[in-house]
Amino acid sequence: MINQETLHVQLDERTYPIIIGASFFKNGFIFDEWITGKDCLVVTNEMVAPLYLKSLVSQLKNKNVVSLILPDGESNKTLTIWFQIIDKLVAMKASRDTTVIALGGGVVGDITGFAAASYMRGIPYIQVPTTLLSQVDSSVGGKTGINHIQGKNLVGAFHQPKLVLVDIDTLTTLSKRELISGLAEVIKYGAIADNKFFCWLENNMEHLLTRNPDTLIKAILKSCSIKAQVVGEDEFENDKRAILNFGHTFGHAIENIKGYGEILHGEAIAIGMILAAEISPLDDIERNRLEALIKKAGLPHVIDSVNVDSMYQAMLMDKKVQSKKLRYILLRSLGEAFIDDNITEQNVLGAISNRMV
Ligand code: NAD
Ligand code: GLY
Repeated sequence: MINQETLHVQLDERTYPIIIGASFFKNGFIFDEWITGKDCLVVTNEMVAPLYLKSLVSQLKNKNVVSLILPDGESNKTLTIWFQIIDKLVAMKASRDTTVIALGGGVVGDITGFAAASYMRGIPYIQVPTTLLSQVDSSVGGKTGINHIQGKNLVGAFHQPKLVLVDIDTLTTLSKRELISGLAEVIKYGAIADNKFFCWLENNMEHLLTRNPDTLIKAILKSCSIKAQVVGEDEFENDKRAILNFGHTFGHAIENIKGYGEILHGEAIAIGMILAAEISPLDDIERNRLEALIKKAGLPHVIDSVNVDSMYQAMLMDKKVQSKKLRYILLRSLGEAFIDDNITEQNVLGAISNRMV
């Protein structure tokens, strides 16, 4: 029997729970506390809808529920699809007490969250993440947005959900490749903030890959608690929250130049973490341990067919750039990250070239 765990993102009057457990879809979940108005819009996609939409809608008793099914994939995290959600809200005459529910992975969560952030300057929304990546990262912390052809997540808003509901049963239908992609963000938390968790991952990676429910719950709980702590300290990324972007300056650029959806987010972040470790003041043993864990998870560790200069140009669109200067999240040791704005272009280009095949 899987225990239900609850932790909170502490943000004064915007504090909200992350409820993690199993069988919410099977046995039901009472949403009443988090849905105050009568109207709900459930946004999902064509892959997730046949699996979980009916069950979710059946739990929204006494509500007027409208559903919207989006096309699947990162290449649809666009202005056009965002506007489809806005159109739906307008068509249902949604008001400020309408609740939007995002049912799906990070793509559905980010774009739906952005629609909720922008419609009438912000209406309530709930995240029901169904991929490992979205359960440990994208559903928590209130970053919402869409991609621009020139850069990942370039357009968006901070808008915190009212509730994050994680049902690990959803991971049984996830493809192996997507599960592994989510493991990149799990490894990230150990690397940036918790050496003990990193060691635990080294010892438990096989159980995560075989989807052992207890091991998954532990990994999700630890990942969310690290993220909740960091977001609680620095909601708008003025400082500390940037450490959650370890590997992302490189990773987002890889996603952009390869074409959205060609490489999965977690796969690009895995390569990004390896590149960030190359330019970090880590000792070789720890650098090798990070690479070994990434490989053990089945994630990529080298980049193929990219042009180094185009990759660097794409990196300049990073949201951490200040006064046209890139800032990097590096590791001092496994479990301790810091921000460095004195890394030279030459260092970075060298690291990328070393990891190209
Ligand atoms: P995704 O949303 O594309 O989902 C991956 C695939 O799995 C999709 O095909 C989806 O339809 C399918 N899927 C979802 N749930 C399923 C299930 N239970 N069973 C079977 N298939 C299922 O990708 P993702 O990895 O979840 O999220 C990646 C996105 O998250 C990227 O756009 C990234 O930028 C974003 N992200 C945002 C944040 C943030 O803080 N907002 C953090 C990390 C990543
Ligand atoms: N995924 C990074 C953040 O939420 O800040």
